[in-house]
Amino acid sequence: MKRHIVMIGMMGAGKTAVGSELARQLRVNFTDSDAEIETAAAMSVSEIFARDGEAFFRDRETQILSRILQGRPGVVSTGGGAWMQAGNRELIAARGLSVWLKCDLATLWQRVRQRSTRPLLRTADPKGTLARLIEQRYPTYAEADITFDANSNDSIETAARRLIAQIR
Ligand code: S3P
Repeated sequence: MKRHIVMIGMMGAGKTAVGSELARQLRVNFTDSDAEIETAAAMSVSEIFARDGEAFFRDRETQILSRILQGRPGVVSTGGGAWMQAGNRELIAARGLSVWLKCDLATLWQRVRQRSTRPLLRTADPKGTLARLIEQRYPTYAEADITFDANSNDSIETAARRLIAQIR
């Protein structure tokens, strides 16, 4: 593999789940940028947001992404906001193929409502927040090289296989 495959899209779209399975099937390395940030900071994403703020998190995200992309090509999953920074889009375009896991609000809400780990959704109306993020972000996510329908109830394995077929 010459380029990275970089998963982008909203929280709950399955970037980590589908990305790690994709890497397994392709026999390449999988890296999750949020997990790398957490390891480097020895704090969770929520703790970083709470202690240092979102702007600090975004700086770390760009640094880590840049480091990951300099490494041997593999599958990389990014946090939902990473693609929204023009500089990150340039880094990704230079070294990888971007794949948008596109999901509608109902699917995303069903997947994220149980979990309280997303700092951006700690609002009085998390579903409304999710809907607003979708509106803000989808035109930019649509600039990805590949758009993959991630609504389906396929198993993760099947979704990864479907994605490989679409990339080839
Ligand atoms: C964010 C998504 C999260 C994490 C952070 C911000 C976002 O990652 O990076 O909470 O801006 O959408 P996931 O998309 O992996 O949940």
